[in-house]
Amino acid sequence: MSAPTLKLSDINLNDPELFEREGAHDVLRLLRREAPVHWNPGGEVANGFWSITKYDDIRFVSRNPELFISSKGIAGPGIRPEALQSLDSGAQPQNAGANISIIGMDPPRHVKMRRLVNKGFTPRAVNAMEPEIRRITNEILDKIDGRDELDFVLEVASQLPLAVICGMMGLEQKDWALMFDLTNKVLGSGDPEYQTEVPEEERGTSAAARATAMLGVGTMMEYFRNVLEDRRRNPREDDLPTILLESEIDGEKLSEGDLLAFCFLLILAGNETTRNGISGGLRVLCEHPDQKAKLLKDMSLMESAVEEILRWVSPLHHMARTATADTEIRGQQIKAGDRVLMWYPSANRDEEVFEDPYTFDITRTPNEHLAFGIGEHFCLGAGFARRELKVMFEELFRRFPNIELAGKPERLRSNFINGTKHLPVRLNSGR
Ligand code: HEM
Repeated sequence: MSAPTLKLSDINLNDPELFEREGAHDVLRLLRREAPVHWNPGGEVANGFWSITKYDDIRFVSRNPELFISSKGIAGPGIRPEALQSLDSGAQPQNAGANISIIGMDPPRHVKMRRLVNKGFTPRAVNAMEPEIRRITNEILDKIDGRDELDFVLEVASQLPLAVICGMMGLEQKDWALMFDLTNKVLGSGDPEYQTEVPEEERGTSAAARATAMLGVGTMMEYFRNVLEDRRRNPREDDLPTILLESEIDGEKLSEGDLLAFCFLLILAGNETTRNGISGGLRVLCEHPDQKAKLLKDMSLMESAVEEILRWVSPLHHMARTATADTEIRGQQIKAGDRVLMWYPSANRDEEVFEDPYTFDITRTPNEHLAFGIGEHFCLGAGFARRELKVMFEELFRRFPNIELAGKPERLRSNFINGTKHLPVRLNSGR
């Protein structure tokens, strides 16, 4: 329910705490109803931006990649030019995401680059990988078998996506924990828990967030520079870094920068989002015991349950675009250069598209949610993410049907990733 005091003029979707305390749905509902294309004023450092909260408008923006480009940043509002000068130069990714490969590219280069790795992500590739996904899942579940209480995020949800994407990239198992840590630093840089290299009294500030992100990015780049060097000397089969090294666009090999950015994107995109789909999925099922019971009784509902989990959880809060020309959406004048943020959790509860959008229904059909975006940049890994969720819940509920929440989830402080850092659960295996 909307809090009675909520006013449009108080709304600031650039406030990560709003998402940490799960207050965003009230705000998004108000925006959809009263200001579906809403100017969110900037701050001292952040740009102002347009919040797009209706399903159809997000579809429109995403499907016009020349009018709304990704190359000026895909996350957050960006930094005001005046503020940039006063920031330590080089210490701030000016336009978050602008340099991370295809997700920050525009037509026509975007499609050419995406095609290089497409083969690794087709339905056939996903099907071929399913036995391996199931094997890894059971290995993860073997480790928790016999335990009573545990942190589902650290011990289960994070482990499967990490193993799958690290496996596709041919990374050694000893390095997976480092990838987990670096992904947290880059994507969760605003959360004090991941600002471990910053003195304790400075944690929680925007300077601490910048330092943490830069450290994560720097270490990851160094790591992948070594991986690429290794694959140049020892090419492997079915290994994404090798495929990229051997690829050409318009007769030219990829530059070192392009190669690094691609590796960087794959490890980031394939990791945290899926983790939050799994942890968010378990949470919502436990919070809706009737739906969990229904699923346990008929596991053939799993595919539609996964879609409903994705709609409900929306592991990414937003993606950003920048307008290249003056345009208009729902009567609002958007100027060339304006930043536009598309709020997926809002699209996925749009009353004009979903019947009873606030009801969690694992049999919902149709369920054309936008959790993976839409159009030119539609999630490359959607097939893998869906299969990982499906296999994880099949195996988890087969082995631990009585699993339940055992404490309050700890949420990530971020308006970009809809993250859960810790989720205490009880396995109740013996009951
Ligand atoms: C539940 C899990 C996931 C969610 C919710 C998710 C969500 C998204 C969204 C919303 C986009 C669109 C970006 C835009 O329009 O600007 C995207 C793009 C992308 N995702 Fe995912 N993703 C997930 C899992 C994965 C996995 C497992 C991988 C890789 C193995 C992956 C790789 C990518 C890549 C490479 C792009 C960029 C595509 C492009 O720009 O053409 N994602 N994802």
